[in-house]
This record gives sequence, C-alpha cells and structure tokens, in this order.
Amino acid sequence: MTGGIAAYKTCEIVSRLVKLGADVWVVMTREAAELVTPLTFRTLSGNPVITNLFDPGLSSLPVLHIAIADKADLILIAPCTANMIGKITGGIADDALTTIVMASKAPKIIAPAMNPNMWENQIVKENVEKLKKLNFKFIGPCEGMLACGVEDIGRMAEPEEIIEKIVGLLGVKQDLKGKQVLVTAGGTTEAIDPVRYISNRSSGKMGYAIAEAARERGAEVTLITAPTNLSVPLDVKVVRVESAAEMLDAVLQNYSKADVVIMAAAVGDYTVNTATSSPTTYDLRLTTKIKKSNKKLMLKLSPTEDILRTLARRKDRKGKIHVGFALETENLIKNAKQKLKEKELDMIVANGPETFGSDNIQFSIVKRSGEAVKYNKITKEKAAQIIISKIVGR
Ligand SMILES: Cc1cc2nc3c(=O)[nH]c(=O)nc-3n(C[C@H](O)[C@H](O)[C@H](O)COP(=O)(O)O)c2cc1C
Repeated sequence: MTGGIAAYKTCEIVSRLVKLGADVWVVMTREAAELVTPLTFRTLSGNPVITNLFDPGLSSLPVLHIAIADKADLILIAPCTANMIGKITGGIADDALTTIVMASKAPKIIAPAMNPNMWENQIVKENVEKLKKLNFKFIGPCEGMLACGVEDIGRMAEPEEIIEKIVGLLGVKQDLKGKQVLVTAGGTTEAIDPVRYISNRSSGKMGYAIAEAARERGAEVTLITAPTNLSVPLDVKVVRVESAAEMLDAVLQNYSKADVVIMAAAVGDYTVNTATSSPTTYDLRLTTKIKKSNKKLMLKLSPTEDILRTLARRKDRKGKIHVGFALETENLIKNAKQKLKEKELDMIVANGPETFGSDNIQFSIVKRSGEAVKYNKITKEKAAQIIISKIVGR
C-alpha cells in the first residue's frame, strides 16, 4: 500500500482475500501509514504489517524483504501512487515496498489512484507504458468522484474488481501448454501511392487481448499484426505486416505448426489496383506520389484473397481449430453462421461496428453445431478469456 487517499478501500480488499483463504501480508510505505493505521491491517490480515525493512519486531524472518518476496504468489499494490509508479519504473528500492517488489518474481498488479492531472502527466503515462511492457498488470484507475472534489479519472478500481483480477491471475489454468496459437490483429492497409493508403477502423485491441490470454494459459503465441498503436504482449512472437497480401503470406508461413488459428484482424477486402486521374493512369508499383489536382481521381480496387477460405483448403487443415470474426452491421447471427459455414470454421465471434477502437465489446459466439451464445458489453480482456475458454472447451 502506498500513500493514496484510496488506502481506506484496501481494508476491504485485505478482508475479502483473507475470507477467500489467502495468506495476506501487508507492506505499507511510510506515507500509507500516515493515512491508515498499520494496526487495522494487522488485525484484518492476522499477520505483522511491514513498514520498515529494519523493524526489530520482525527479526524472526532473517532477511525480511527476501523472505516476503519469495513467499508471494502475487503482489498487489493498491492504491499505487504516481510516486510509487515512478520509483518502480526507475528501479529504486529505498524502502520495504520497493525492495520487495524488486526482489520478487511473482506477478504484480498495480491499482493506481491519483488526481487526474497526475494520471495524465506525461511522465506518469510513460512510466505506466514501460511497466506494462514489463508485464506489470494494471487495473484502473476508473472515472468517478475523486477526493479532490472533481468527477474525473483517477479513482482506484473497486475492491470487487481487484479481487476478481487476483483470482483470475492466480487461478489461470495452463490448459494451452504445448499448443501453438496463431493470432492475427489490426486493420490491414492497402497502399494507393507511397504516402497514401486505404484501411479500416480496427484498433487491434481484440487480437492483442486474445494473444495475451492464450499466452497466459501457456500457449506459444505468434501474433501477426497489421499496424496498430498498441504495445505487444510479452513473450509473444510478433510478425508485422501492412497489406492483406502480406498478412496472408505471414499466416501461410506460420500455419503448419499452429494448433489454433484465431483471425481477429480486419483484413481489407479490396486492394488498390490502379489510380486514374484522366489522362494519367498511375502504376502503383512506382514510387511516385500521385499529384494533387482538381480532377477526379478514380481508384480501381480488386478483391483480396480471403485468408480463412484459403486455409480451409490446406491439406494440413485437419485437426487444427479455425476461429474467425464477423463484423456485421445487420443480421449479425445469420451472416455469421453463413461465414462460419463458407469458411469451414469451428467457431465465429460476431460483433457490431461499435466495437472498433473501443476497450469493450458486445458479442456472440457461434459454434459449428449452430449453438450461439450472446455476451453483454465487457472488456476485450474478459472477452478474450471467454473466447479462449470456448476454444479449449471448458
Ligand atoms: C491526504 C493525501 C492524499 C494523497 N493521495 C494521493 C493519491 O491518491 N495518489 C497519489 O499518487 N498521491 C497522493 N498523495 C501524495 C503522496 O502521498 C506522495 O506523493 C507521497 O510521497 C507518496 O509516497 P509513497 O508512494 O511512498 O506512498 C496524497 C497525499 C496526501 C497528503
């Protein structure tokens, strides 16, 4: 725990974890202990509270920080101040909490809570990105009424959500161990000339979340990604592509070893064939930029090759699981079922266009048997876990 006003909410987290059977050890910074008393947490957890590495009262543990760091199956920092995020990112270990965090190999969850200006501070943003890349899991902050009297982003996530995340992480089954999962993500781009392209609104968030969920369950994951602004999940092999043709090539190159193929990418249905601004027809293989003029520019598009349909015809298709995505603006389930049949898929995830760019998704999973299950709006991370569970058949 660090010195954030949300520290009072941590009482509930500790109390609920204890009820779930966890052995909870509370480590507080000096500032946290100014806001809530260590005695409260000693009483709730049933264990001594660590505020000082050199506390003579804890001498029963020979090297306190190593003993606690080794003991932990998971470390949660809730609330986590801007200061603590900065200290961890900077590799500082100058108190009990930072030293234990540095000495532990356990998964770490950070629940930030701070004033919105602090959260939006570029230094904090960069620190958070860096920690995410190092596989620190973040939960929140959320929007709501803050202690500083404004309604904005910065509230610590609710204890319930934090508990759910902890249980999810500790309870993750390694049921994809030894399996190869191929995931595609992002929206492909088709060049018009060296500087312009056509593309779609896909953010890649769903595919990245699926890659991460599969990896968390023990799979070896290859992520073939069209351009996105996302940082790639740790321990995932990444292949970067731009066009639909490049994506097809990359998929074919990685297909034979795959056990599961999940095509979450929004692959362009058309590629640019020629661009004509009478009387000039541009050869798109050239590297010249099309000149701006006030004449109409006609683009001739030709269809791209459908990746899943191509895969369905492969000799080594047998035994592999193919999962597709269907984005439809109308007759969602009917169209998804038709795609599932045409592309010989095992499962299809159907969703509407509101999903593009959003952190959330409302979707249906349609299986080859015709069974269709609808899910209300949830985060893409949660959706990814559900999709993986459905694939594994749990
Ligand atoms: C009443 C009070 C509430 C605070 N709440 C927060 C907070 O919610 N988030 C935050 O980042 N800092 C908050 N601070 C500032 C931190 O306590 C301060 O940056 C401190 O150095 C953090 O130390 P620590 O990270 O070692 O706990 C608060 C300070 C006070 C006095």
